[in-house]
Amino acid sequence: MREGTPMLDHEEILVRRGRRSGLPVVLAVHSTALGPAAGGLRLWHYPGWRDGLTDALRLSAAMTLKFAAAGLAAGGGKTVVALPPGTRLDQPRRRDVLYDVADAVESMAGRYAIGPDVGTSPADMAVIGDVTPHVFCRPRELGGSGDSSPHTAQGTLAALRAVNRHLHGERTLKGRRMALIGLGHVGEHLARLLAAEGAVLTVTDIDDTKKRLAGELGATWRTPEEIISTDADYLIPAALGGLLTPHVVRALRCRAVVGPANNQLDTPEAADLLHQRAITWIPDHIASAGGVINAMTTELHGLTPEESLARVNAIEDTVTELLTTADALGVTPAEAGHELARRRIDAA
Ligand code: PHE
Repeated sequence: MREGTPMLDHEEILVRRGRRSGLPVVLAVHSTALGPAAGGLRLWHYPGWRDGLTDALRLSAAMTLKFAAAGLAAGGGKTVVALPPGTRLDQPRRRDVLYDVADAVESMAGRYAIGPDVGTSPADMAVIGDVTPHVFCRPRELGGSGDSSPHTAQGTLAALRAVNRHLHGERTLKGRRMALIGLGHVGEHLARLLAAEGAVLTVTDIDDTKKRLAGELGATWRTPEEIISTDADYLIPAALGGLLTPHVVRALRCRAVVGPANNQLDTPEAADLLHQRAITWIPDHIASAGGVINAMTTELHGLTPEESLARVNAIEDTVTELLTTADALGVTPAEAGHELARRRIDAA
């Protein structure tokens, strides 16, 4: 598609200034082809609201792929509240923002349900739940499925096992060198799972106070700049998106990139560049699906925690199928991943 052509990929986009907070709220529904849309609330700093809009458009489109690849009857959506750089929200302001978001969700009349994402938590979902029933991951004591990040981490672990078997013939990650970027909710869980398995960890975060966790886990600390060119079996993006620029891809010294961060590719061409460098990249919409799989299957489909865990662990089979298909067709895992999702959406 030529840039500037008047095509709208998304079904619906709501942009409004929050009535209480005065902050820009952007809610994007990319697709409801497979079912009502869902996607988290990103409460993060952006230079301007247009940057928040751009992010919401990309992130909601990725959610469509995520649900399709996971075999869930849901479509892609996302909400972004663009905080001016440097803003800190005190409790009353935070509540105002969350109620503004909840109004936007409620106005979608069930076409979209929200959940947590970067910058938000189950406690925030509880506040949103005061206003609208269309919310996932409220705290367990309120009847929600709670924190989704342990499940997201578990799903990434499953993806790593599949890649490891494909590349090295074994599932265990013991002794594998992992370079993990980002020790937020998901990153910390994943670091703990990997450490427990005996992987050799190098970690980083933009927040220096996370050095303590690195020490606790026996991990080597690097700066975010240094970790890119660290010798490793796996690079694990677990921070904000857009990490894989052509420049970064050229600097990588790892065999594969597998992580839970959403939208890891800065541009689609980065996937080709990774392929040319013989670095296996697992599309983030597959490696990050554990959280939504758990939330949806337990909250909507009544699966027990054990059944849901089995669904999350099945990401291992999905990734194995993806790698086998990619090899057989001579395409990148990114192309195979799009194909897999596309088939499901077209079939609907
Ligand atoms: N942050 C989650 C993701 O990107 C969003 C989410 C979690 C949405 C749980 C719904 C339920 O996958």
